[in-house]
Amino acid sequence: MQAFASILPERDLTAVVAYVASLNGITPRAGRTPAADPPKPSLPPEAARGRALFFDSTRGLARCSTCHQVDGFGIPVAGPMAKIPGGVPELRELRTPHVRMATLDGESFPALIVTPGSRRTTFYDLTTPPPVLRTVDSSDLKIGEAAAWSHAIVLGSYREEELAAILTFLRAVVRP
Ligand code: HEC
Repeated sequence: MQAFASILPERDLTAVVAYVASLNGITPRAGRTPAADPPKPSLPPEAARGRALFFDSTRGLARCSTCHQVDGFGIPVAGPMAKIPGGVPELRELRTPHVRMATLDGESFPALIVTPGSRRTTFYDLTTPPPVLRTVDSSDLKIGEAAAWSHAIVLGSYREEELAAILTFLRAVVRP
Protein backbone atom coordinates (compact mmCIF):
# COMPACT_ATOMS: atom_id res chain seq x y z
CA MET A 1 0.00 0.00 0.00
CA GLN A 2 2.87 2.31 0.80
CA ALA A 3 3.63 2.61 -2.93
CA PHE A 4 0.36 4.50 -3.54
CA ALA A 5 1.48 7.18 -1.11
CA SER A 6 4.31 8.12 -3.43
CA ILE A 7 2.17 8.07 -6.60
CA LEU A 8 -1.05 9.78 -5.56
CA PRO A 9 -1.36 13.26 -4.11
CA GLU A 10 -2.78 13.23 -0.59
CA ARG A 11 -6.21 14.50 -1.72
CA ASP A 12 -6.62 11.64 -4.20
CA LEU A 13 -5.36 9.09 -1.72
CA THR A 14 -7.96 10.27 0.81
CA ALA A 15 -10.63 9.85 -1.88
CA VAL A 16 -9.46 6.31 -2.68
CA VAL A 17 -9.49 5.34 0.99
CA ALA A 18 -13.00 6.82 1.37
CA TYR A 19 -14.14 4.85 -1.68
CA VAL A 20 -12.75 1.59 -0.35
CA ALA A 21 -14.41 2.30 3.00
CA SER A 22 -17.70 2.87 1.17
CA LEU A 23 -17.46 -0.68 -0.19
CA ASN A 24 -17.86 -1.78 3.41
CA GLY A 25 -20.96 0.36 3.78
CA ILE A 26 -19.08 3.07 5.65
CA THR A 27 -20.00 6.62 4.73
CA PRO A 28 -17.63 9.26 6.03
CA ARG A 29 -19.51 12.05 7.73
CA ALA A 30 -20.00 14.76 5.13
CA GLY A 31 -17.53 17.57 5.30
CA ARG A 32 -15.81 16.20 8.39
CA THR A 33 -12.34 14.73 8.27
CA PRO A 34 -9.77 14.64 11.04
CA ALA A 35 -7.73 17.12 9.00
CA ALA A 36 -10.68 19.53 8.66
CA ASP A 37 -11.49 19.16 12.32
CA PRO A 38 -8.30 20.22 14.13
CA PRO A 39 -7.54 18.70 17.53
CA LYS A 40 -9.07 20.34 20.54
CA PRO A 41 -6.72 23.02 21.84
CA SER A 42 -6.51 21.08 25.10
CA LEU A 43 -4.60 18.20 23.44
CA PRO A 44 -0.87 18.42 24.35
CA PRO A 45 1.54 18.55 21.35
CA GLU A 46 2.70 14.90 21.57
CA ALA A 47 -0.92 13.67 21.75
CA ALA A 48 -1.90 15.93 18.82
CA ARG A 49 0.96 14.42 16.78
CA GLY A 50 -0.24 10.94 17.72
CA ARG A 51 -3.74 11.88 16.57
CA ALA A 52 -2.44 12.99 13.16
CA LEU A 53 -0.51 9.72 12.83
CA PHE A 54 -3.49 7.58 13.87
CA PHE A 55 -5.62 9.08 11.06
CA ASP A 56 -2.74 9.68 8.62
CA SER A 57 -4.27 9.36 5.13
CA THR A 58 -0.85 9.26 3.42
CA ARG A 59 -0.41 5.76 4.86
CA GLY A 60 -3.48 4.58 2.97
CA LEU A 61 -5.01 1.48 4.51
CA ALA A 62 -2.04 0.93 6.81
CA ARG A 63 -3.22 3.62 9.22
CA CYS A 64 -4.81 2.72 12.55
CA SER A 65 -8.15 4.30 11.63
CA THR A 66 -8.66 1.65 8.92
CA CYS A 67 -9.82 -0.61 11.77
CA HIS A 68 -10.33 1.64 14.78
CA GLN A 69 -12.71 4.46 15.56
CA VAL A 70 -11.50 6.96 18.14
CA ASP A 71 -12.81 10.40 18.94
CA GLY A 72 -15.69 9.88 16.48
CA PHE A 73 -13.49 9.20 13.43
CA GLY A 74 -12.30 6.03 11.71
CA ILE A 75 -13.83 2.68 10.87
CA PRO A 76 -15.02 0.74 13.93
CA VAL A 77 -13.99 -2.75 12.77
CA ALA A 78 -12.42 -3.68 16.08
CA GLY A 79 -15.05 -2.18 18.38
CA PRO A 80 -14.46 0.52 20.95
CA MET A 81 -10.97 0.62 22.41
CA ALA A 82 -11.01 -0.27 26.05
CA LYS A 83 -7.49 -1.08 27.16
CA ILE A 84 -4.58 1.04 25.99
CA PRO A 85 -1.25 -0.83 26.13
CA GLY A 86 1.25 0.56 28.64
CA GLY A 87 3.98 1.00 26.05
CA VAL A 88 5.13 0.24 22.51
CA PRO A 89 6.43 -3.29 23.36
CA GLU A 90 2.98 -4.17 24.79
CA LEU A 91 1.31 -2.71 21.68
CA ARG A 92 3.57 -4.84 19.48
CA GLU A 93 2.76 -7.97 21.46
CA LEU A 94 -0.99 -7.24 21.55
CA ARG A 95 -3.04 -10.42 21.58
CA THR A 96 -6.23 -10.59 19.54
CA PRO A 97 -8.48 -13.11 21.30
CA HIS A 98 -11.54 -12.30 19.19
CA VAL A 99 -9.87 -13.13 15.89
CA ARG A 100 -10.66 -16.71 14.92
CA MET A 101 -9.82 -18.98 12.06
CA ALA A 102 -12.91 -19.32 9.85
CA THR A 103 -13.51 -21.70 6.97
CA LEU A 104 -15.92 -20.95 4.14
CA ASP A 105 -16.13 -22.77 0.78
CA GLY A 106 -12.96 -24.70 1.62
CA GLU A 107 -10.93 -21.57 2.31
CA SER A 108 -9.56 -20.65 5.73
CA PHE A 109 -8.95 -17.06 6.79
CA PRO A 110 -8.70 -14.90 9.95
CA ALA A 111 -12.09 -13.47 10.91
CA LEU A 112 -13.40 -11.09 13.53
CA ILE A 113 -16.91 -12.29 14.33
CA VAL A 114 -19.35 -9.37 14.67
CA THR A 115 -22.72 -11.09 15.09
CA PRO A 116 -22.84 -14.82 15.54
CA GLY A 117 -26.28 -16.15 14.73
CA SER A 118 -27.99 -19.47 14.38
CA ARG A 119 -29.08 -18.57 10.81
CA ARG A 120 -26.70 -15.87 9.58
CA THR A 121 -23.27 -14.81 10.84
CA THR A 122 -21.63 -11.45 10.21
CA PHE A 123 -17.86 -11.14 10.35
CA TYR A 124 -14.89 -9.16 9.07
CA ASP A 125 -12.48 -11.03 6.83
CA LEU A 126 -9.04 -9.81 7.95
CA THR A 127 -7.05 -11.42 5.14
CA THR A 128 -5.91 -8.08 3.69
CA PRO A 129 -6.78 -4.50 4.66
CA PRO A 130 -9.35 -3.12 4.60
CA PRO A 131 -11.23 -5.79 6.54
CA VAL A 132 -14.23 -6.88 4.47
CA LEU A 133 -17.61 -7.14 6.21
CA ARG A 134 -19.51 -10.26 5.18
CA THR A 135 -22.75 -11.99 6.18
CA VAL A 136 -23.16 -15.66 5.31
CA ASP A 137 -25.35 -18.61 6.24
CA SER A 138 -24.08 -19.89 9.58
CA SER A 139 -24.33 -23.46 8.31
CA ASP A 140 -21.72 -22.69 5.59
CA LEU A 141 -19.23 -21.16 8.03
CA LYS A 142 -16.94 -23.07 10.37
CA ILE A 143 -15.42 -21.01 13.18
CA GLY A 144 -12.30 -22.63 14.57
CA GLU A 145 -9.36 -21.88 16.80
CA ALA A 146 -7.83 -18.46 17.41
CA ALA A 147 -6.17 -17.33 14.20
CA ALA A 148 -2.47 -17.05 13.55
CA TRP A 149 -3.27 -13.42 12.67
CA SER A 150 -0.90 -10.99 14.28
CA HIS A 151 -1.76 -7.39 15.14
CA ALA A 152 1.97 -6.62 14.90
CA ILE A 153 1.88 -6.84 11.09
CA VAL A 154 -0.65 -4.00 10.86
CA LEU A 155 1.71 -1.71 12.80
CA GLY A 156 4.42 -2.09 10.15
CA SER A 157 4.16 1.36 8.59
CA TYR A 158 4.85 3.16 11.89
CA ARG A 159 8.21 3.82 13.53
CA GLU A 160 8.82 3.21 17.25
CA GLU A 161 8.48 6.87 18.30
CA GLU A 162 5.39 7.31 16.12
CA LEU A 163 3.68 4.45 17.95
CA ALA A 164 4.67 6.07 21.26
CA ALA A 165 2.98 9.32 20.14
CA ILE A 166 -0.14 7.37 19.12
CA LEU A 167 -0.32 5.76 22.57
CA THR A 168 -0.05 9.23 24.14
CA PHE A 169 -3.00 10.31 21.97
CA LEU A 170 -5.05 7.23 22.90
CA ARG A 171 -4.38 7.74 26.61
CA ALA A 172 -5.54 11.36 26.28
CA VAL A 173 -8.88 10.59 24.58
CA VAL A 174 -9.96 7.02 25.41
CA ARG A 175 -11.95 6.85 28.63
CA PRO A 176 -12.02 3.31 30.02
C1 HEC B 1 -6.25 -4.26 9.86
C2 HEC B 1 -6.96 -3.81 11.02
C3 HEC B 1 -6.23 -3.13 12.15
C4 HEC B 1 -5.35 -2.06 12.08
C5 HEC B 1 -4.86 -1.33 10.85
C6 HEC B 1 -5.00 -1.74 13.45
N1 HEC B 1 -5.65 -2.58 14.31
FE1 HEC B 1 -5.62 -2.48 16.32
N2 HEC B 1 -6.89 -4.10 16.44
C7 HEC B 1 -7.42 -4.76 15.36
C8 HEC B 1 -8.28 -5.82 15.83
C9 HEC B 1 -9.06 -6.77 14.94
C10 HEC B 1 -8.26 -5.76 17.26
C11 HEC B 1 -9.07 -6.57 18.25
C12 HEC B 1 -8.75 -7.99 18.27
C13 HEC B 1 -9.47 -8.73 19.37
O1 HEC B 1 -10.19 -8.13 20.19
O2 HEC B 1 -9.32 -9.93 19.36
C14 HEC B 1 -7.35 -4.67 17.60
C15 HEC B 1 -7.07 -4.29 18.90
C16 HEC B 1 -6.31 -3.17 19.24
C17 HEC B 1 -6.10 -2.70 20.59
C18 HEC B 1 -6.66 -3.34 21.85
C19 HEC B 1 -7.93 -2.67 22.23
C20 HEC B 1 -8.55 -3.21 23.48
O3 HEC B 1 -9.52 -2.59 23.92
O4 HEC B 1 -8.12 -4.23 24.00
C21 HEC B 1 -5.31 -1.59 20.51
C22 HEC B 1 -4.82 -0.71 21.66
C23 HEC B 1 -5.03 -1.36 19.11
N3 HEC B 1 -5.64 -2.35 18.37
C24 HEC B 1 -4.26 -0.32 18.64
C25 HEC B 1 -3.97 -0.10 17.28
C26 HEC B 1 -3.11 0.97 16.81
C27 HEC B 1 -2.45 2.02 17.70
C28 HEC B 1 -3.06 0.85 15.45
C29 HEC B 1 -2.25 1.70 14.48
C30 HEC B 1 -0.84 1.85 14.78
C31 HEC B 1 -3.89 -0.29 15.09
N4 HEC B 1 -4.41 -0.84 16.21
C32 HEC B 1 -4.12 -0.73 13.78
C33 HEC B 1 -7.21 -4.45 14.05
C34 HEC B 1 -6.40 -3.44 13.56
